[in-house]
This record gives sequence, C-alpha cells and structure tokens, in this order.
Amino acid sequence: MNRPFPEQLADCVARVERTLDALLPKLADSLVAEPMRYAAMNGGKRLRAFLVLESATLFDVNPAQALRAAAAIEAVHAYSLVHDDLPCMDDDELRRGKPTVHVKWDEAAGVLVGDALQAFAFEVLADPATSDNAAIRCKLVATLAAAAGGQGMVLGQAQDIAAETSARGLTLAEITELQANKTGALIRWSAEAGAILAGQDTGVLGRYANAIGLAFQIQDDVLDVEGDPAAAGKRLQKDAEAGKATFVSLLGLDAAKMRANILVEEACEILSPYGSRGDALRQVARFIVARKM
Ligand code: IPE
Ligand code: IPE
Ligand code: MG
Ligand code: MG
Ligand code: MG
Repeated sequence: MNRPFPEQLADCVARVERTLDALLPKLADSLVAEPMRYAAMNGGKRLRAFLVLESATLFDVNPAQALRAAAAIEAVHAYSLVHDDLPCMDDDELRRGKPTVHVKWDEAAGVLVGDALQAFAFEVLADPATSDNAAIRCKLVATLAAAAGGQGMVLGQAQDIAAETSARGLTLAEITELQANKTGALIRWSAEAGAILAGQDTGVLGRYANAIGLAFQIQDDVLDVEGDPAAAGKRLQKDAEAGKATFVSLLGLDAAKMRANILVEEACEILSPYGSRGDALRQVARFIVARKM
C-alpha cells in the first residue's frame, strides 16, 4: 500500500535537504557558502528531486546515489531561480517567501551564487560516490549540461526574454518549444536520471517528462494569473505585465488548464509499461496541475 502523496513528498524534501546540507560548502569554509545555502535550502517543493528519487526507485538504484543526483538537480534549479530573479531578468524581490539573493545581498552575490551552485551540481555528479561506473557519471554530467545550457534551460530563458519585446505574438508551437526548453529540460533530466543511474533506456521516462514538464509550466502560468502570492511565495500577475508569452496569454485560462490536464493524463498513460510501480510518478504528475504553489 502506497503512502499518501503529501507524506512521500515531505519525506523527499527532508532527505534532499539533509543531502544538500551535507554536500554544500560549510559556512566557515567559503565566503559564498551562506548565500549558496540560502538559495538552495530555502524551501521549494523539491519536485525535481522527487522525480529523480522515484525514477531511481523504478530501477532499484541505490538511494544514497539517487539522492546525490537529486541534490545536483535542485542546485541547478536553485541557480536558475536566483538568476531568473535578477534585475536584468524578471527583477523579483521575493522567492520561496523570502527576499531574493540580490535583495538580501547584492547583484554580484546573485550572479556568483548562481554560478557556484551550477558548478557544485557537476562536482557532485562527477564524484564516484554518485556512481561507481565512470561512464554513467559522464552521462549524468553530459546530459545535465545539455539540459541546463544553451540548447536547454538557458535557451528557454533567452527565448522567454526575447518574446517580451517581440513585435508579434508567439504561436502555440513557439510557446511549446520555449517552455520545453525553459522548464521542460530540467524536469526531463530529473525524470530520466533514475534510468541513467541504472544504465537503462530513458525513452518512457523522457516521454512522460515531456508531458509533465509542459503541464508544470502551464500551471506556473495559470498560478501567475490566479494564484495566491502568499501561498506561492513569489510575486504573481507579472507575466501579463511584462508582456510574457504564455499558454494562458495565448489560449486563455480555461483552455490552458484543460491542456495541462490532458497532458497529465497522457503522462500517466505513458507510464503503463511500469504498471503500478509508476504510481508515485503518476501522483506527482497530478500534483503538478493541482498545486497552488
Ligand atoms: C518555479 O519552479 C520556476 C519554474 C521553473 C516555473 P518551482 O515551482 O518548482 O519552484 P520551487 O523549487 O518549488 O520553489
Ligand atoms: C523561470 O520561469 C524558469 C527558470 C528559472 C528556468 P518563471 O520566470 O516563469 O518562474 P517564476 O514564475 O519566476 O518562478
Ligand atoms: Mg522568468
Ligand atoms: Mg521569474
Ligand atoms: Mg512564472
């Protein structure tokens, strides 16, 4: 009998926080340790970590090794948020209910902490403690680099910013591509990580992740319009203000929500080769569109 999903997620949060605490530089050892810890351990739903841990469970991967991959992706995600909030990007002052890094410290700290968290993630993955198989470590590093970089998350962020000043609106195909890069790439890596750690094929998990990644960003856009800033822990209603192209701006609220729900059902169906072993991944898929934060 599976435990209730909120309990499973809370357990994942606690385990990944402990792992980050153990792996991040200690306060006494580094000038940037404090803002790094602030940015990486300041709450967060830990959905990407959950995807890593549950995909790893499907393949009976050693949980301690999976936790290192989970910590790595949460560090890259935290870096992306610190940079996303910078004045030159979305210029936000609140993240996870707390002042953003550049507000609490300064802009240089925001840039440097993002850089440091990104490097930290690759250091963790490349360590033999993550896998005793060097080819698997290389694959983890190479795939995360591709997901995070100029053909993945960074490209999506650039497309997102370019769209703000574009003279014409984006098409549905262009928004889908933008979001697949901006948000989808890291989510996809998270869901595939278990298979990579096990040296197995990532096909099914990759297709599952494509669907939930898009659903995730649609829900982020929906919450930007109708969410509660106190629950979300960040400023909302800023996409329309900034002229951002989102599924909501293109399709309207109702059609966007419907699209997200269809994607989640597709994602659950894609997991059928794993039978009931995929239930935790089905639950997180449903949570992604039901969440209020
Ligand atoms: C927010 O991601 C940023 C996007 C990619 C849209 P999350 O909603 O997963 O943020 P945390 O980690 O829970 O704070
Ligand atoms: C952020 O997207 C995506 C990344 C950081 C890669 P948003 O700009 O929509 O995220 P929020 O709404 O600020 O969390
Ligand atoms: Mg942004
Ligand atoms: Mg933002
Ligand atoms: Mg958003």
